[in-house]
Amino acid sequence: MESYIINGGNKLEGRVNISGSKNATLPIMAASILNEGTTTLYNVPDIYDVKIMINILENVGCKIYRNRDKVVIDSRNVSDTVIPDVLMRQMRSSVMLVGAVIGRKRQCNFSYPGGCEIGARPIDLHMRAFRKLNVNVRENSGYIYCDTDCIKNTELNLDFPSVGATENVMLLSVLGEGNTTIKNAAREPEIIDLQNILNKMGAKVQGAGSNIIYIEGVKKLKDVTYTIMPDRIEAGTYLCMGVATKGHIILDNVNVEHISSILSKLEETKARIIIRKNSIELIGNSKIMGIDTIKTMPYPGFPTDMQSQFVSMLTISKGTSIVTENIFENRFKYVSELIRMGAKINVEGRTAIIKGVKNLEGALIEAHDLRGGAALVIAGLIANGQTKLIGIKHIQRGYEDIDKKLLLLGAKIKKGE
Ligand code: UD1
Repeated sequence: MESYIINGGNKLEGRVNISGSKNATLPIMAASILNEGTTTLYNVPDIYDVKIMINILENVGCKIYRNRDKVVIDSRNVSDTVIPDVLMRQMRSSVMLVGAVIGRKRQCNFSYPGGCEIGARPIDLHMRAFRKLNVNVRENSGYIYCDTDCIKNTELNLDFPSVGATENVMLLSVLGEGNTTIKNAAREPEIIDLQNILNKMGAKVQGAGSNIIYIEGVKKLKDVTYTIMPDRIEAGTYLCMGVATKGHIILDNVNVEHISSILSKLEETKARIIIRKNSIELIGNSKIMGIDTIKTMPYPGFPTDMQSQFVSMLTISKGTSIVTENIFENRFKYVSELIRMGAKINVEGRTAIIKGVKNLEGALIEAHDLRGGAALVIAGLIANGQTKLIGIKHIQRGYEDIDKKLLLLGAKIKKGE
């Protein structure tokens, strides 16, 4: 089994370039189905989830060309409306294809999506919204069959501001008849990126970034060229690594506005943060102060996707920190691995109480999900001695060249068996 072998104790120093956003790229790639033409994307991260999305798009009939961060998708001949179970299981975001495929072909058959082991992750909000937009949704033995003779745009209210459901409704409605209003929409920056590319294709979408999104259906979309926004979670992860190793790093290609909730929590550790136009300089403190409370919330609150990296960083902080997970019910799986390394963490329901220790000790540990995996890389960077981290395919789903980027920052990390 592939692993990362990390010899901890080195301060990270130098510059790191932040890649394009995974969570923006995936729905945007799904959107490429809608224009019956060519979508040219730049700043696409080279990660496993993008490879899965390419596989799924090819499977429904798209032709795809990739050269480094550039991906060209030709969706003129979308012939299939079935998303194979094996691909659906590999990635939860494959559900995003459903809105786009129905938008284009008026039908789609698929099985329940897979993804991280961080909770049940149902898709009831997606399906309820689809039904309101005049899609017949039938479920049978784990398979879902959707079809419609006409997407009838309407007003809908999401019970929870789900990122995926908001994006799926946008993808479904752009080629619908009439107007859709999504109330209680998610406000994440990746939704603004999706709105921007859809509008560049000729769609009429407004309001992304606020909790009400308006979509006026159009008949046809056109070819588009678009550059994906930077990955705010990758940026936050490297900042945690900088603090945890008491290092001094500069992140290039970041949108500072997207990570303000992360930056204000990092400042509580007494790290120094200097903000420039598209870059951030972080100077770690020799003493990492604990953070009284962190509560994950929908954007613009503190992101659930940064919860585990903060917990890992705080294992060696001064004092006690309390971190509450409000979005996913099972997002503390990685904690048992940190405890193996000497961390003092108590998980009670949705809350982790972290009592800072002097240091962690290297160990054999396993990643079970993407962000939990990133947290374990942080632990390896901190720890005395050698850490062998297995299950790294989870990390490769969402972090481009994490080992190479860390090597450039002076970490001792290599791939092992
Ligand atoms: C997206 C992100 C993921 C991030 C999450 C929350 C992508 C590709 N992934 O995931 O990295 O952690 O937002 O910021 O963008 N829920 C339901 N029913 C539904 C849909 C969601 O109950 O139909 C619940 C989920 O179980 C979860 C919460 O709503 O508890 C938030 O989920 P959602 O915002 O939909 O997350 P994703 O779009 O899956």
